[in-house]
Amino acid sequence: MVRNLWTALLLLGSATCGSSVPVSQSPDPEQSCPYLGECNSTINEQHIDTLMSYVDSEQNPCEDFYAYACGKWRARHGSHTTATMISESQINRQYEDLFLQLLRNPSAPEYGYPMYAKVLAHYQSCIVLEKPDLRRYIELLDRELLASLNSMHWMHLLAALGRYGYHGHYVQVEVRWYNATHHMIFLQPHNHHLNLTLTEDIYDALSQDGSSWPPLHQLQEQFKGLEQNLVRLAKPHSADDTFRNYSLEQIRTAVPALHWDEALRTQLGRTVAGNHVFQVDDLDAIKGLVEYLNTADTLLLNRYSLARFLSHLLELPHNPLATWRTGQRSRGRSCIRHMRRSVYLPMNYVYERSFYARRRHADELVIHSVFQQLQSQLELRVEHNVFNLSQELVNSLQAKVHQMRINVGNLPPNVSEQFYWNSDRRWSVGSDFYENHLNSLLYYYTLVADLESSTDQEERDIWYSFNMHTPEFPDNIDATPYFYCLGNIIFVPYSYVRRPFFDANFWPALLYGDLANTLGHEIMHALDTDLVDYDARGNLRNFSDQLGVVELYNGAVGCLNSSAVMLNERTSDVSGSRLALQTYGGDWLTRSGNGRLYFLQFAHFFCGDEGDQYHDSGSQRLNYALGQVPQFAEVFGCHVGSGMTSAEQCPFW
Ligand SMILES: *[C@@H]1O[C@H](CO)[C@@H](O)[C@H](O)[C@H]1NC(C)=O
Ligand SMILES: *[C@@H]1O[C@H](CO)[C@@H](O)[C@H](O)[C@H]1NC(C)=O
Ligand SMILES: *[C@@H]1O[C@H](CO)[C@@H](O)[C@H](O)[C@H]1NC(C)=O
Ligand SMILES: *[C@@H]1O[C@H](CO)[C@@H](O)[C@H](O)[C@H]1NC(C)=O
Ligand SMILES: *[C@@H]1O[C@H](CO)[C@@H](O)[C@H](O)[C@H]1NC(C)=O
Ligand SMILES: *[C@@H]1O[C@H](CO)[C@@H](O)[C@H](O)[C@H]1NC(C)=O
Ligand SMILES: *[C@@H]1O[C@H](CO)[C@@H](O)[C@H](O)[C@H]1NC(C)=O
Ligand SMILES: *[C@@H]1O[C@H](CO)[C@@H](O)[C@H](O)[C@H]1NC(C)=O
Ligand SMILES: [Zn+2]
Repeated sequence: MVRNLWTALLLLGSATCGSSVPVSQSPDPEQSCPYLGECNSTINEQHIDTLMSYVDSEQNPCEDFYAYACGKWRARHGSHTTATMISESQINRQYEDLFLQLLRNPSAPEYGYPMYAKVLAHYQSCIVLEKPDLRRYIELLDRELLASLNSMHWMHLLAALGRYGYHGHYVQVEVRWYNATHHMIFLQPHNHHLNLTLTEDIYDALSQDGSSWPPLHQLQEQFKGLEQNLVRLAKPHSADDTFRNYSLEQIRTAVPALHWDEALRTQLGRTVAGNHVFQVDDLDAIKGLVEYLNTADTLLLNRYSLARFLSHLLELPHNPLATWRTGQRSRGRSCIRHMRRSVYLPMNYVYERSFYARRRHADELVIHSVFQQLQSQLELRVEHNVFNLSQELVNSLQAKVHQMRINVGNLPPNVSEQFYWNSDRRWSVGSDFYENHLNSLLYYYTLVADLESSTDQEERDIWYSFNMHTPEFPDNIDATPYFYCLGNIIFVPYSYVRRPFFDANFWPALLYGDLANTLGHEIMHALDTDLVDYDARGNLRNFSDQLGVVELYNGAVGCLNSSAVMLNERTSDVSGSRLALQTYGGDWLTRSGNGRLYFLQFAHFFCGDEGDQYHDSGSQRLNYALGQVPQFAEVFGCHVGSGMTSAEQCPFW
């Protein structure tokens, strides 16, 4: 029967891998359902078949587990494809199918819920886009603004563009998430890592304003000269710990040559009190920049601002205009990807309502259970204090683990429909893509600006229980669970809570093989070499300075910090895997079918992953992490000195 079939497959896997696990132990995995009454065995059997289909049994798992577990992945999916990418594109397709179906059926009940009608109108305006007309973006700005480019103060235009979230040059004013309960206004000098590339498209769009513009190459030269002066006065984009508290009064006094009140009123849509506290990076540099800019050519400064703004809009993730090609008829998919960034909350709401709500209850039961186990294991470890840290530091780190939250799907848990109606009302959508795009930016940035000053505690609690991603949020972070240090919260996206990663029906080996490892990895980011500095409420502290004077701790970090690896990913990989195994542990692991399946399921996540700027390749990560968990060698019967066992064992949390 079916059960025998996959049992045979498992045996096949274990019989040909050249290891010495005695087959006399029960080879089949535990089939119980740890947190739900019962689980569907067909789902488990099918999933095990899938895992086995990627195994290359010619490879020795003890030498190179990645080659063994993912050996046939590339032949099936090509290179540069991971299970995460497949999952993401399935979600995009779900959106697309839903939207097409609803657009064909204007009397569908969905139009009576919040967000749907606007989401669909936005989508409609995107898919009918014709040849890009960047001038439209400019025309939609305030007319008076455009009529007075040669006389308007540079900061006024900058503040007007700041309403759309633009803050890339001269003096940057930005509202940012600050800690678990607050946003703050951040003030920074010009970012000299970003220069404008003045393309012909941007030049053409701008120079259609009836005034006389220098030829393109001449303007490029003028802009370059301006950038040289700015770079001289600016400083590199800096880490968060260089910001200092200043009140608006202090800022006014230190930099009197700017009308701060007017600029803030324009950008934030409200008056800011003199004692309001800002986060400021290098007020001296800002002063120097303001004095220089106040004497520079106003028209040139404002033209530069408009060009930067257009360039920024085109660089926002998945702006369909940036990839527009003549003759390309269906751009449904790129519109979906664009909207998942530019109107994050409405799109998530729609996904929840149409696809996820029916699975949420069972999923949360399982995910929260595993999360709480990991959390209490880690708390015990911190309390055990192997590094001999001060009691105060132990308490702070323990509180951080204890108070960590998890949010599946990244919507505010538990809010009424009224919350979404209120959000819906703030968002305007028409039939023009350019207008809709600008309005989506206004929607996001005015919400955030209002939140920064809000004193409504109930409302604040809601907004800090999830992360309304900015329109600039990177795709790769949104595709898998991530630890958000400012909120001390783990966000689990929809693309993760589905097979092959997760299913509430999974048997223990499959369930823990990925979920516990993935959540373990994310939880350990709270204590990694970078993010350990944030406390339980997301406030920046000096914990790594305190750890840096502890010899035992430095030894552990030094052991993991070999060659060119991302240290803070490695600490999470290693400790996360150990934490997951400890949680899964018990006698499950002693049954060989359980152990093998657990590690195969873990490996699946890494198949095809070639790494990125933050992560090593999947094969490096998987093999290194498993070389650091002795249970792997036990389960596969690996001899000492084989590829997977040769690494020095590094102690970390
Ligand atoms: C079990 O899962 C399979 C595959 O998804 C499905 O076809 C079947 O209907 C499910 N059985 C039950 C009892 O839900
Ligand atoms: C930006 O342009 C200025 C002036 O040409 C130059 O000095 C600087 O190196 C450029 N920065 C980058 C990151 O290209
Ligand atoms: C900055 O202000 C916050 C509260 O406004 C305060 O908790 C913090 O200690 C201040 N930090 C510094 C460096 O002054
Ligand atoms: C632990 O640290 C204390 C000082 O904080 C020190 O007196 C003690 O010797 C240390 N213990 C070990 C085992 O290193
Ligand atoms: C959801 O709301 C109920 C009732 O208001 C409350 O008891 C519960 O704690 C809330 N859950 C969360 C996760 O906020
Ligand atoms: C977050 O930062 C704000 C501003 O500095 C501060 O007033 C607040 O107390 C902090 N929140 C927590 C929970 O520490
Ligand atoms: C960390 O900051 C505290 C004050 O918050 C200070 O007393 C302590 O000396 C600092 N520790 C290190 C190692 O910098
Ligand atoms: C890790 O090693 C690199 C160089 O190999 C070094 O620059 C870095 O400071 C080390 N990190 C820690 C936290 O020790
Ligand atoms: Zn990570």
